[in-house]
Amino acid sequence: MSTNYEATSLRDSLCATISTEQVGQRLTVCGWVAKRREHGEHLAFIDIRDRSGVLQAVVDGSVDVRNEYVVRVTGTVSRRPEGTVNDKLATGEIELTECSVEILATADAPPFQLDDRVDIDEQVRLRHRFLDLRRDQMQRNLRLRAKVNAAIRAAMDRQGFCEVETPLLWAPTPEGSREFVVPSRLHHGEFYVLPQSPQIAKQLLMVGGFDRYYQIARCLRDEDLRADRQFEFTQLDLEASFVTQIDILEFVSQAVLDAAEVATGVRPTTIDTMTWAEAMDRYGVDKPDLRFGMTLHDLSDAFAGTEVKAFAAPTVKAMRVEGGAEFTRSRLDSLTDRAKGLGAKGLAWFKVTETGLESPLDRFLSDHERSIIQRVDGAVAGDLILVVADEYALACKVLGALRVEIGSPPVGQGPHRYVWVTEFPMFEGLDDDGNPVAAHHPFTMPHPDDLDLIETDPMSVRSQAYDLVLNGWELGSGSVRIHRADIQSRIFAALGISPEEAENRFGFLLGAFKYGAPPHAGFAFGIDRLVAIFAGEENIREVIAFPKTQSGADLMTGAPKSIPDKQLKELHLKPSKGA
Ligand code: AMO
Repeated sequence: MSTNYEATSLRDSLCATISTEQVGQRLTVCGWVAKRREHGEHLAFIDIRDRSGVLQAVVDGSVDVRNEYVVRVTGTVSRRPEGTVNDKLATGEIELTECSVEILATADAPPFQLDDRVDIDEQVRLRHRFLDLRRDQMQRNLRLRAKVNAAIRAAMDRQGFCEVETPLLWAPTPEGSREFVVPSRLHHGEFYVLPQSPQIAKQLLMVGGFDRYYQIARCLRDEDLRADRQFEFTQLDLEASFVTQIDILEFVSQAVLDAAEVATGVRPTTIDTMTWAEAMDRYGVDKPDLRFGMTLHDLSDAFAGTEVKAFAAPTVKAMRVEGGAEFTRSRLDSLTDRAKGLGAKGLAWFKVTETGLESPLDRFLSDHERSIIQRVDGAVAGDLILVVADEYALACKVLGALRVEIGSPPVGQGPHRYVWVTEFPMFEGLDDDGNPVAAHHPFTMPHPDDLDLIETDPMSVRSQAYDLVLNGWELGSGSVRIHRADIQSRIFAALGISPEEAENRFGFLLGAFKYGAPPHAGFAFGIDRLVAIFAGEENIREVIAFPKTQSGADLMTGAPKSIPDKQLKELHLKPSKGA
């Protein structure tokens, strides 16, 4: 062992760092009893677990220790007798003998086995998270997260970024999710809002002259929880002045690639780039999973004058499913239902066989159409071709969703494929009042070539917004911001935000911009998502120490909870019903 940073007043070493080189030394370790096995009346083996792993101690059988007792054991490092070596354990060749055992704390029997090989109900794990955290998986995941954070910080420091903390008690931000509100005791009837992100604060920092800002920032959003979403999450948030999109992509790439290198041991060689329009066209989604093929193919020209009623639509898109000819009729029916659920009129399927196509629609096809379908994406016998004919956007969306459902491996499996998706549209859909909705947020700069279209054809305006996608998960988003009042007013007008409303909602930002706003741009990526993928986990809960359940509850503390009426009154809130 080189320098022993682990030695404290109570111990000399961590359990799993002790090796055969120390045979003969008398050492002290501290930890939890992972297992106890009796060997006759006078001898017992106890496995002591600390954060490094497990070490076996041979103790007097009369020592009364049970699982999860906290112990301090001093013993002589010895080779295990021949035939008792455990190859599966880092310390499998050694054990502590002639031990003295001090019990530092007793423990009740744990409600579940702290063993990674045992499947444990997640509710039970979360109720006793403090015990769950002792398991290898959680130790590994949270330590990985700490390494990733350290690598990100180092990358940002190296690139000249300054870490600044921004407030948690804040005013509404324009990210578009529901916000958590905090009642004010001192200001009757008024509320703070917990930030959905440091978006406005970081833009103010640009006005404040911090031309390269970053923060490992906690963000809070009251939205429906999913595998990749929690109420509270953490972003690497950054913003820089006197830059373009190219610079931001480079800053972020450095941080992500450094993090990948420490987490996986391999530095990814490439991050692909494609425009949003290309992503939609080839993958049918704005977060393409590049780990597998099944790209979408456009057959619109070939079917322009078709006699097949089902294909008489502006766009005909097809996708090859390798080996999909094996799909049963009921699987094909459920895919068709899924397509309809997504808004398609139907889903056409064609099994490619040695002799032709097998499909209820086959007899309606012309020879030319049949040969086109047979050749989609280099199809061979045994493949399946799925076809959706509809409006362009819908056909892409439906096939894109089926592609993911049929082909996507679990998010953490296989290679890590990063892709930048650029040139997102400025607006997406219409709100209840018929106004376009900002696809990223209202401070996003339009594409310079599309400025003239803001008033005339807003839905075709591209923006300087970009996402980073990893294995089909949106890792992060960012944009070049509007720093010019004239363009900002035009965007607010397009969004149906009146000057009064803009003043009311974002007045402090717009006011600050009057005092010399540098051109600036930024980005934020989700650290929970990144670490989950590195750890091979399907749910970000597994990389968060104290997460909420799907219904937003903290099973360990019981939060959310009611609070005493006295406290409610102080906050100028009415006591709850039945109180
Ligand atoms: P955006 O809202 O896209 O952008 O968020 C950026 C990234 O944060 C992560 N994320 C989440 N992770 C876990 N749980 C959630 N509920 C959750 N919501 C978001 C995702 C997402 O890609 N201020 C802008 C960034 C900018 O323009 O600079 C923003 O927050 O990984």
